[in-house]
Amino acid sequence: MQPDRLQREVDEGGAAGGGPISSGGRHIGEVILALESISLSFGGVKALTDISFDVREHEIRAIIGPNGAGKSSMLNVINGVYHPQKGRIIFHGTERKNIKPHAAAREGIARTFQNIALFKGMSVLDNIMTGRNTLMRGNFLLDALHVGFSRREELVHRKHVEEVIDFLEIQHIRKTSVGRLPYGLQKRVELARALAAEPKLLLLDEPMAGMNVEEKQDMCRFILDVNDQFGTTIVLIEHDMSVVMDISDRVVVLDYGKKIGDGTPDEVRKNQNVIDAYLGVVH
Ligand SMILES: Nc1ncnc2c1ncn2[C@@H]1O[C@H](COP(=O)(O)OP(=O)(O)O)[C@@H](O)[C@H]1O
Ligand SMILES: [Mg+2]
Repeated sequence: MQPDRLQREVDEGGAAGGGPISSGGRHIGEVILALESISLSFGGVKALTDISFDVREHEIRAIIGPNGAGKSSMLNVINGVYHPQKGRIIFHGTERKNIKPHAAAREGIARTFQNIALFKGMSVLDNIMTGRNTLMRGNFLLDALHVGFSRREELVHRKHVEEVIDFLEIQHIRKTSVGRLPYGLQKRVELARALAAEPKLLLLDEPMAGMNVEEKQDMCRFILDVNDQFGTTIVLIEHDMSVVMDISDRVVVLDYGKKIGDGTPDEVRKNQNVIDAYLGVVH
């Protein structure tokens, strides 16, 4: 089944002023995340050089580029795993300085990883519950003194987790250990864990890598549904060009740590620098 393709053309002309854009019955909001002249290096390796781009509320923003281009590093900058040596990160209008990943999570940024990061020996349900950690109260003494309240709180968390399980259609595996699941389902559980945190901004690092065609189509549909039904803004790294062109509103292209293209899928497809970077590159 083809993913339910929506009218996702973004009017780039309207983007210049930073205000909201409406087109095709779909509303793309204000800029919520701006990366300005970001440079990041590891010793002598320049992972990112002077990269600037922005992310608008409710859009699906793809990051593409050959292996080693700096895509995962960029996600790690956005959620505070790495701190760039140069540049500014503006989130919801405020400059963010050296934020830690758990603080980014509290601000509504959740992610999945290129290499699945789940507790393999734990059940699907328990793994998804860990996604609620940042929303739980951290004071154990208070928890101990207000047992009734904590139980009520846990019920609220459980209810939300059950909703995510229904949404991603994984009821049948909720009690299964993650390590026993096929790869495609593990990827879906990782998405579930990220969604359990009720993110405003969801970062997905190659959510479809290693999947067969049917699994990819399912994942595409879930990403579009998350974006539509929860209004979640999504930054997506993906190698499958047909997927990227089909579901993204705008695409930023990296190559050797530099930005070589930025625009709608159609604009990026026609960009000569992008064509050259991909010529002969098969993913
Ligand atoms: N923690 C790290 N330490 C040293 N080098 C790193 C680290 N993370 C990434 N790099 C280097 O930065 C460059 C970009 O890597 P990465 O962001 O993983 O690219 P991509 O996700 O596009 O394949 C590569 O040369 C990689 O080896
Ligand atoms: Mg990567």
